[in-house]
Amino acid sequence: MVNTGFTFSRIPPVHFGAGKLAVLPKVASSFGTEALLITGATSLKAAGRMAHVEEGLRQAGIRFHSLVIDAEPSTDFIDGTCARLRDRGFQVVIGIGGGSVIDGAKAISAMLPHSNSVLDHLEDVGRNVAHSGVKIPYIAVPTTSGTGGEMTKNAVMSMVGPEGYKKSLRHDNLIPDAVIVDPELMVSCPPHITAACGMDAFTQLLEPYLSPIASPLTDALAFSGLERIRDNLVPACTDRGGDLEVRAGMAYASMLSGVALANAGLGIVHGLASPIGGFFPIPHGVVCGTLVASATESNIAALRKRGGDIQAGGNPGALAKYAKVGILFGGAAGKGEAWNCDYLVETLRAWTAILELPRLGAYGIRASDLDRIVEGASNRHNPVKLDRRELGELLSRRL
Ligand SMILES: [Fe+2]
Repeated sequence: MVNTGFTFSRIPPVHFGAGKLAVLPKVASSFGTEALLITGATSLKAAGRMAHVEEGLRQAGIRFHSLVIDAEPSTDFIDGTCARLRDRGFQVVIGIGGGSVIDGAKAISAMLPHSNSVLDHLEDVGRNVAHSGVKIPYIAVPTTSGTGGEMTKNAVMSMVGPEGYKKSLRHDNLIPDAVIVDPELMVSCPPHITAACGMDAFTQLLEPYLSPIASPLTDALAFSGLERIRDNLVPACTDRGGDLEVRAGMAYASMLSGVALANAGLGIVHGLASPIGGFFPIPHGVVCGTLVASATESNIAALRKRGGDIQAGGNPGALAKYAKVGILFGGAAGKGEAWNCDYLVETLRAWTAILELPRLGAYGIRASDLDRIVEGASNRHNPVKLDRRELGELLSRRL
């Protein structure tokens, strides 16, 4: 299960901890004095920080233009924004917000210096031309603990509809130039968003941990993040959302999830989230959160059926890893691999219920939609290749 050789991408300089937002003016100044400040519709204002951020930038002699991103970014939005702002001479882009802002600002920083459409560079969409890597420096400041996008080299774009897609703009240079993770920005995040984002972060730790291309380094990072998920996910969404230590634990887990996924890939939950998010207007974190228990159940069942036979799609060591996560989440080492795998599935089912993750049907997804979702799914770095019937069953359990 563990590769002997691996490649590990660079990670950005990180300022992590309560109150760290205060370093933003100094960090921004290191790139220039003309900034594009991109925020979400509400998160920064809800945290009472917007005026504070603006004042800090002014005092540091930074002129800024403000822009709001209030939905998962579309290619039209990125193209239109860059066409409008291209000649403004920005020297730094600052993105403060949830996953949509972090990815949208990343894409804008990547496309501001270029006059073509971002569609040209989306994987499997448009002309499939590689991005040059030339961009405006980008500072990412997440206000939710979910996508881990502050640590990654890709920005997800979506177009929702019958021909919809969710695809990435990707280049090593798109890894943000600086990251500020301040849990004080996260305490105002409401429970249902905290739950969806938190389950996304969890999935982005579990899937790289089980990935066939996992390395000892990604395993160590993923496991460290999973420990924080165990201690903080349910409290953050229930009775301790205002606790900075709990929020810091989730922010740390989310940050590591970005590093883990960037270096070990993702499994079937994300392989299904891509077509589902393209066809239906359902938040990414909800898709991951609602599917991860069912997907873990399907993966474990398929691994048992196929044994350790790689030719048959099995993956030696994967069940032991699932059992290790089961033990981490409160199982019992003495009870053996099978018992701890079952315990893990039961724990994830319990989380799904406690966190009240909506079913797919709540977003208009019907049994008749499953075939085209399965058609667009990717097993790429899943620990076992699930066939069409297994994928249909996995989805049906969450309709
Ligand atoms: Fe995700």
